[in-house]
Amino acid sequence: MLIRVIYVSSAVGPQTSTVTSAILKKATAWNKANDITGVLCQGQGVYLQALEGQRSIVTKLYSRIYADPRHTNIEMIHCESIAKRRYANWSMAHVSLSDIDPTTKVDWPEFDPYSITGLLVMARIDELLASGTVIENPDS
Ligand SMILES: Cc1cc2nc3c(=O)[nH]c(=O)nc-3n(C[C@H](O)[C@H](O)[C@H](O)COP(=O)(O)O)c2cc1C
Repeated sequence: MLIRVIYVSSAVGPQTSTVTSAILKKATAWNKANDITGVLCQGQGVYLQALEGQRSIVTKLYSRIYADPRHTNIEMIHCESIAKRRYANWSMAHVSLSDIDPTTKVDWPEFDPYSITGLLVMARIDELLASGTVIENPDS
């Protein structure tokens, strides 16, 4: 059974490109080997991640990510059983929230993923992906 989970968290320390690269390197390799797909949005002090895959695997991965000291205040904002993946093309797409262009910022003026629903977050992630804000796509 497939599920999709979305969580938000607060970065511990600055979100440097070194930290982000280390996370993405590990994530893409492990996710590919374990048939996990998703998106990691990062910037402005937060992480916002969607994870899709077999329920048992996503559950274990989520616990591992939850325990990672590089972030804190982790809140699951969405979890659902799915028939079809939304992010099937990405082992872990990377969207930099700091690089969001001004037009997107107008659509999402007060970016606070802690205060909006998972469905709204998912719609925003989809907009970001559609507008080509993905800055790293190791699978393509
Ligand atoms: C924001 C964030 C997102 C992460 N996403 C993934 C991921 O999608 N897949 C993954 O394998 N590890 C991911 N990690 C890394 C895991 O938390 C963990 O460090 C890694 O799986 C190695 O675990 P281990 O040291 O217990 O072997 C992420 C870490 C952070 C901070």
